[in-house]
Amino acid sequence: MNINKVFVVGAGTMGNGITQVCAQRGLSVIMSDVSRDLMDKALKKIEWSVSKFIEKGKVSEDFDTIMGRIQTSTDYNAAADADLVIEAVFEKLEIKHEVFAKIDAVVGDKTIMASNTSAIPITDIASAVSRPQNFVGLHFFNPVPMMAAVEVIRGISTSDKAFQYGADFVKFIGKEPIMVNKDIAGFILNRINMVSNMEAMRLVEQGVATPEDIDKGMRLAFGRKMGPFETGDLVGLEVSLMAYTNVYEEEKDPRFYPPSIMRRKVLAGHLGRKTGKGWYDYNPDGSRKK
Ligand SMILES: NC(=O)c1ccc[n+]([C@@H]2O[C@H](COP(=O)([O-])OP(=O)(O)OC[C@H]3O[C@@H](n4cnc5c(N)ncnc54)[C@H](O)[C@@H]3O)[C@@H](O)[C@H]2O)c1
Repeated sequence: MNINKVFVVGAGTMGNGITQVCAQRGLSVIMSDVSRDLMDKALKKIEWSVSKFIEKGKVSEDFDTIMGRIQTSTDYNAAADADLVIEAVFEKLEIKHEVFAKIDAVVGDKTIMASNTSAIPITDIASAVSRPQNFVGLHFFNPVPMMAAVEVIRGISTSDKAFQYGADFVKFIGKEPIMVNKDIAGFILNRINMVSNMEAMRLVEQGVATPEDIDKGMRLAFGRKMGPFETGDLVGLEVSLMAYTNVYEEEKDPRFYPPSIMRRKVLAGHLGRKTGKGWYDYNPDGSRKK
């Protein structure tokens, strides 16, 4: 596998995590977003997280060496000689198409293109590029520096080589590939989780149980680190809603129809930790209100 340089599009929650793990494994990374300000904020988050990894002895290199591998740019031309482009922009097909049309115009035959979509079929996203055989899904989990699994998804046109490249890259950055052999909406892990999360929301909607009790039960009975509402607030309700809606639109299966309590919360701006209110309320310092 040829991997030296990675171009990451989108410096949000996932993009900055992906940038960090690549830099920590010795790769040169260019992180891109629509503004300088967003990229500076992302760099601050990476700096904080890299410091924590160093403090805990989880990486042996020094701060400057790791951070020195990261560059930022709003210019897609900087992707021209990347071995791998990973897109982590908003979960909207039109935006992903726009991004990949621009990427496709600058990269060569050898560049592998990947999307970190939560739920949009890889084949749909790859329809924006002229070499869909070089396109693969790389679905990271949040928070990226901590989560060891990455789903590697084969689109209908993905070549064996690109699919294998995805798996090799995931191992190279110290994570475990979960191979998704068919391009199914929601892939594997979210598809299973979605149905269970929506059932938890419906139980809250029906007044059967509180988010606190459901989260506690899922932690204590099933050994989860976090319950569905705690995770939901971390991910952002609007991010999950977009993902659920995409799967529902694809399948038209009522199992995947987002409950109205979730849709109303998103309309009200109760998006989770990022807005100080979601399934739970948060103090300005990020701690949960009692
Ligand atoms: N948040 C999660 O837990 C999670 C988990 C797995 C996958 N994902 C997926 O990863 C992707 C990104 O999610 P996120 O949570 O990081 O979102 P986010 O909102 O934190 O970040 C998205 C970033 O993309 C940038 N962006 C938007 N349009 C752009 C463009 N045209 N060019 C460059 N940058 C652009 C935005 O400015 C923003 O900084 C989505 O597809 C999401 O479904 C999210």
